[in-house]
Amino acid sequence: MSARFVIEPLAKAHKRADFTCGNERIDRYFRETVSHDVKRKYATCFVAREIATDRVAGFDTLSSSNVPLTDVPESLAKKLPRYPTVPTVRIGWLGRHSDYAEQGLGEALLFDAVKTVATAPIGAHAIFADAIDDQAAAFYAAFGFTPLVRRPRTLYLPVATALRLLSP
Ligand SMILES: CC(C)(COP(=O)(O)OP(=O)(O)OC[C@H]1O[C@@H](n2cnc3c(N)ncnc32)[C@H](O)[C@@H]1OP(=O)(O)O)[C@@H](O)C(=O)NCCC(=O)NCCS
Repeated sequence: MSARFVIEPLAKAHKRADFTCGNERIDRYFRETVSHDVKRKYATCFVAREIATDRVAGFDTLSSSNVPLTDVPESLAKKLPRYPTVPTVRIGWLGRHSDYAEQGLGEALLFDAVKTVATAPIGAHAIFADAIDDQAAAFYAAFGFTPLVRRPRTLYLPVATALRLLSP
């Protein structure tokens, strides 16, 4: 992604009414619900804005969460403390406007989310996402995310690994 876009926290000035990423559930969430979740601190929302036009080109949301240790694949779980859950951050929703397809925006949003989690003053060992469909799961898998045990659409990546894989 170039300096054409800036990624910033959701604000009133962001126009969401015509946002369309190709998935109706994600579009409806972003247009109608996200600000309520942000207000109640159920999520933070970050928006990719095209600087020249002020258009919203994409967004993602982050929420604190945890994953049962038994759901983490053995190869990743074996060196972790034996606490019942792993502290994580969940990418609740992620979408980019169809007008900006295949320009690296999805990757830029993902990298920004990882950077946010890695630099937050709160412990989070991993980041994970519930993919909305198989294509979304393939998107996360392309960046090294691994499906959780018995949860093929929930994809998980340790933050330290993410920082290595997603360096710009
Ligand atoms: C998934 C989505 C965010 C990808 O956004 P995008 O801006 O088109 O993707 P990018 O241009 O950043 O792609 C970056 C890389 O990921 C790859 N990629 C993109 N979508 C992919 C997919 N569905 N499966 C596998 N790889 C994918 C690209 O090929 C590219 O790889 P390259 O750099 O080697 O060419 C976008 O298609 C979208 O908003 N889809 C609808 C909503 C959705 O599925 N959200 C996912 C969370 S539930």
